[in-house]
Parts: sequence; structure tokens; C-alpha cells
Amino acid sequence: MTSEKPCVVHSLTELRIELQKLRNQGKRIAFVPTMGALHAGHMSLIELAKGEEVAVVCSIFVNPTQFTDSKDLENYPRTENKDILMLEQYGCDLIYIPVMDEIYPDDHEGITIAYHGLDSVMEGTSRPGHFNGVVEVVYRLFQLVQPDMACFGEKDFQQLAIIREMVKQHELPINIIPCPIIREQNGLAMSSRNTRLTEAQRKDAELLYETLTELKDLKDLMNPDELAEWGRNRIRQSGKCELEYLEVADSATLSPMYRWHESTSARAFVAVRFGEVRLIDNMEVHP
Ligand code: PAJ
Repeated sequence: MTSEKPCVVHSLTELRIELQKLRNQGKRIAFVPTMGALHAGHMSLIELAKGEEVAVVCSIFVNPTQFTDSKDLENYPRTENKDILMLEQYGCDLIYIPVMDEIYPDDHEGITIAYHGLDSVMEGTSRPGHFNGVVEVVYRLFQLVQPDMACFGEKDFQQLAIIREMVKQHELPINIIPCPIIREQNGLAMSSRNTRLTEAQRKDAELLYETLTELKDLKDLMNPDELAEWGRNRIRQSGKCELEYLEVADSATLSPMYRWHESTSARAFVAVRFGEVRLIDNMEVHP
């Protein structure tokens, strides 16, 4: 942690000036895009981004185009002052809090990518259009910040896979750095949405980590599809939350798996709802 104050910019002009200053100091730019309501999971990305001759730029922008539920967008926690203090403590060099019109100007043309099926499973089917919004905003932010590298959490593993595909297809010279999931002491994956859980729901949400860990322990006894079914039953029978999906999928293609393959990494992915609060988590279960 350092106590040097990061610069906070809102306009594109200011952003360009501050980026140029950092470039003039010979720094490479590491970028951490976020939607704010920052927690230790986000800070782990800042820590991973830091390095010698590297300046860390963090954006805070609650991107409306990736929300498929207007209530979720409305209720998304906004804690800007606290976020800035936190980023300051963790030694972030530049904070970009864009204005809507500069991310989405009138003449804005979004980009498309060929998803190769990455968007037709899990979050893609549960939240149709969500990834188009993510791709659109991340591409735009990449254009504006022009980073050398960018950090994304494995907490949103499908998002990470899609961003990698976007970078590959558009031949962007940006190194995508994956960051492991940071969890609370009870195993609950940190998320901005956790603040909306009641005390009881927070306790009940331990179920996700417990189930994922059990799936990993049981993988030698079942095929991947049987394992997924076991996990679905485990969550449904708990009666604690509403299950949206639980899949055991190939870590590269994200397609459901039916047999283990020696050389193929497999992950279990889960999404549930505690009342209005939607939580996702995942864990590598094989090899
Ligand atoms: P947000 O949910 O704010 O997350 C910002 C980054 O932090 C993402 O890369 C996410 O995977 C990572 N992250 C969140 N919780 C984490 C945890 N517990 N452990 C490790 N990493 C974690 O993801 C988004 O925002 C948006 O979709 C965005 C990419 C900013 C585009 O709008």
C-alpha cells in the first residue's frame, strides 16, 4: 500500500493528458476496469497490475448496456468516495470515472465479435445481451485508455474468456492478465452485490463454496454431467436459494462436459438468487 494520492479524472481530455504524463515517465499502462463498489477482490487486481515501470489505471463506470434487469442496475451499489480512498491506499496511479456521453457518444458504433458459443451458455443464456454490453464497454475503454495490459478476475470466468476472444479477434496489443477469485473467510466469493445480502443470506451463501469444493472432491466418482446433477440437487435440496444454473464445463470452450479428458481443464460454474440478489461463482474441478 502507498499513500500517494492518485489523480481522478472524468473527461477524456483530462484522461489523455494524465496518460501522456505517465507515458512520458516511461511507464507502461496496466488497466483495471470496474463498476465500483470496490472490495478486496478488486484490490487484488490492482496489486497484480502493479510492477516496476508500470502505472495502474482503474476505471469506475456502472455500464448500463450490460444490465439485463433495470432493477439490478438501479440497485447496483455506488460508493464512489470510498472507492477513491481505497484505490489511493492501494497505490493506484490514475482513476478514470467517465461521463456517459464520452463512453457512448451519439455517433458511437459498437463492435461485434464471433462468440464461438462462449455466449450461448450460462451467463449468456441467463442474461441475454449481457456480453454484448460488456464487449462494447470494454472495447471502448481499451480504445480510450490504450493499456499495455488489463486485469480481469476469474470470478467472472466467462467474461474473461470473452474478453480474451475479443482481444484475439480484433488483434489488440493488450496482455490480458487473469486474477484468481478472492473470497471472504467463509468461502463466499467477494462481490459488490454481497452488500445487498441480509446476515442470514450471507451465511446461507456459504453453500456455494461448499458445493463447489464438494464437487471437486467427488469428481473421481462421477462423470462431469453426473457431478453437475449432483450439485444441482445439493443446492435445490438446501432450500436456501433459487438455482439458476450449475454446469461442469470445459474451461476453454465453456461447453458442458460429459467425460473427463486427461488434458482438458474443467470448471464448475454456478449462479443462484437469494431473493433479488444474484450471485455467481466457479472453481476448477479437474485436473
Ligand atoms: P466488476 O464487477 O466491478 O468487476 C471488476 C473486475 O473485478 C472484474 O474483472 C471482476 O472479475 C473482478 N472481480 C470481482 N470480484 C472479484 C473477486 N472476488 N475476486 C477476483 N476478482 C474479482 O466485471 C465488471 O465489473 C464489468 O463487467 C466490467 C469488466 C468493468 C465492464 O463493465
